Amino acid sequence: MSAASAASADLYDVIARRRDVRAEFSGAPLDTGVLDRVLGAAHAAPSVGNSQPWDFVLVRDPATHDRFQEHVATERATYAASLPADRRARFERIKVEGIRESGLGVVVTYDPDRGGPQVLGRHAIDDAGLYSTCLAIQNLWLAATAEGVGVGWVSFYREEFLRDLLGIPERIRPIAWLCVGPTTHLEDVPDLVRHGWRRGRPVAEAVHHEKFGGK
Ligand SMILES: Cc1cc2nc3c(=O)[nH]c(=O)nc-3n(C[C@H](O)[C@H](O)[C@H](O)COP(=O)(O)O)c2cc1C
Repeated sequence: MSAASAASADLYDVIARRRDVRAEFSGAPLDTGVLDRVLGAAHAAPSVGNSQPWDFVLVRDPATHDRFQEHVATERATYAASLPADRRARFERIKVEGIRESGLGVVVTYDPDRGGPQVLGRHAIDDAGLYSTCLAIQNLWLAATAEGVGVGWVSFYREEFLRDLLGIPERIRPIAWLCVGPTTHLEDVPDLVRHGWRRGRPVAEAVHHEKFGGK
């Protein structure tokens, strides 16, 4: 195998091994050199008009973790109450966050004003800035996986709560609370599949030819 194809095999391997981590954080501290590399990978993401509209708030204070975890528990209960009884019973068995256990929250935010009023490529699709921020998150997630570090995306929160908690200005959107930390292992199968919540679909079902719906 050539060096180039070995490197791409590594990339596919990382993509396949990446998991959303909730229960597998080991509680060990995260090496600062590793964190710097992972954040560097996130910051290397493509962005509309090269606007780099993201920021990363590193949250280590256990008191802040506690306050956020309590809020997430409330939102979890709100969601659970919306489910029919059989789905609620299944949902009760699923862990949706590892806020305290991970030891580090990386809150990724989106600044719609970054890059000025005429961001190249955003004049017709305002959401392109948001898409860019999600690409930074995916880079972070894959780099962390390559480093043997787990990431879990938490979205059971209200944006106003997280803004207040972290002093995020009104015009800036919190996009994700990422639980980041060393793990004992990564599961082979996603939690939602293992718990019978929802299976994935084959890639062929997502591919269309010439027109949407085209076989
Ligand atoms: C935008 C987004 C929000 C998510 N929010 C949560 C969440 O709040 N809690 C959780 O446990 N997982 C969350 N996840 C993880 C998904 O459940 C997970 O990616 C999916 O089930 C596939 O599993 P895998 O990432 O291990 O392959 C989120 C993922 C994304 C992309």
